[in-house]
Amino acid sequence: MSHHPSIDRPSVTIPMLQQRMRDGERLVMTTAYDAMTARLADPIVDMLLVGDSVGNVCLGFDNTLPVSMAMMNHHLEAVMRTRPRALVVADMPYLSYHLSLDETLCNAGGFLKRGAAAVKVEGGAKRAEAVRALVECEIPVMGHLGLTPQSVHAMGGFKVQGRAAEDAIRILDDAHRLEEAGCFALVLEGIPSELAAKITQSLSIPTIGIGAGPDCSGQVLVLHDVLGLTQGHRPKFVRTYLDGFTVLQQALTRWAADVRSGAFPSAAEAYALPADAQAAVAAWTPHASTSS
Ligand code: KIV
Repeated sequence: MSHHPSIDRPSVTIPMLQQRMRDGERLVMTTAYDAMTARLADPIVDMLLVGDSVGNVCLGFDNTLPVSMAMMNHHLEAVMRTRPRALVVADMPYLSYHLSLDETLCNAGGFLKRGAAAVKVEGGAKRAEAVRALVECEIPVMGHLGLTPQSVHAMGGFKVQGRAAEDAIRILDDAHRLEEAGCFALVLEGIPSELAAKITQSLSIPTIGIGAGPDCSGQVLVLHDVLGLTQGHRPKFVRTYLDGFTVLQQALTRWAADVRSGAFPSAAEAYALPADAQAAVAAWTPHASTSS
């Protein structure tokens, strides 16, 4: 039996995911930002997203805007060192696909050279040209519509999108523009369930929902949210399966108490000196060394 669950299983591919969607299987994606989270999630999910949410989840920023290509490459490389079997999607950070097509292609191509199978970009029709150029260069693209965190200031905060009729129609239209431009899948974030259902029914590519109700082709949640490792406000669409923060802090508290009481480490957790070396060490006194 292999020590690594992933090497016995075939790698997940885009055609495989699209076929699973057509077969009515729901797709599962979560975030991985490093080797540890990749190893944890890879045997379980279909897609690993090296998300720019690393900025707020791990790097202490208030939002994803400060995240750079250098940061994303650093985290992607850590994930890829674990040789995941899941499809790895790398998130294009703010300003890495907004300035020119050349820069967009260079940044996205750098992700593929590091082992990602696809990239994700936020935004609708205004990204169609960039999506077409990426697909033309054999770079698969996942779109991201609705509550797009990189537009936090333009949206006036992290707010549900598409509630007004004209906004709903614009998002529906954007979804079709992105499919036409060549996206292989779309993340739908923070939109009403009925709108997500309509988008999902009317597209032929998978939709991956987050705060978009049950009728998407799949779901994504940030791994740290699922495990209860994030603190502060959690949106209502986050279902937490463990109070990980408390559980981990309890374990650390017990270890710290053992250190303070002397209960850690025990003899079994330490290395013994052989008897002859013990005698030499015991006989040693300062300035008694023979080598001068
Ligand atoms: O960066 C991220 O984690 C994301 C998901 C929430 C879809 O974009």
